[in-house]
Amino acid sequence: MAYTLSINGQARQVDVPEDMPLLWVLRDELDMVGTKFGCGAGLCGACTVHLDGNAVRSCQTPVGAVGTARITTIEGIGQTAKGAAVQKAWIEVDAPQCGYCQAGQIMSATALLTSNPKPTRTQITEAMSGNLCRCASYHRIMEAIELAAKETAHAG
Ligand code: FES
Ligand code: FES
Repeated sequence: MAYTLSINGQARQVDVPEDMPLLWVLRDELDMVGTKFGCGAGLCGACTVHLDGNAVRSCQTPVGAVGTARITTIEGIGQTAKGAAVQKAWIEVDAPQCGYCQAGQIMSATALLTSNPKPTRTQITEAMSGNLCRCASYHRIMEAIELAAKETAHAG
């Protein structure tokens, strides 16, 4: 089936089965490999993208369910003020170790700070609980989110 998807502000056309996960469409059809395949079962968060600003697991999102929602991926998140601030904070605290989980972490963190610009530690922990990191970079991720929140607090 033919779909026109809005991805990072651009219209992208694909012709795929409606039940194909969005993650497959991004990586295999559009060669957008920044979004990672981890578990394929909604358990790790490596595949997190935004649909209309909300963090979703693209491995669990059939392309047929996307409709007209705006898709944002790690390739485009830096175009948003919050996303750029999160990425800058990530670099400042040197958050990644192997890096595999980090695209998903950044997408979840940006969605959190967009909906809740000044989260408490508990709220950060809750919001990020679906994003696993085998390298256990959780402490630096917390630090990066708090830094990004501080630096964007004036922007609301
Ligand atoms: S790959 Fe989607 S949640 Fe793990
Ligand atoms: S940095 Fe290696 S899995 Fe998170």
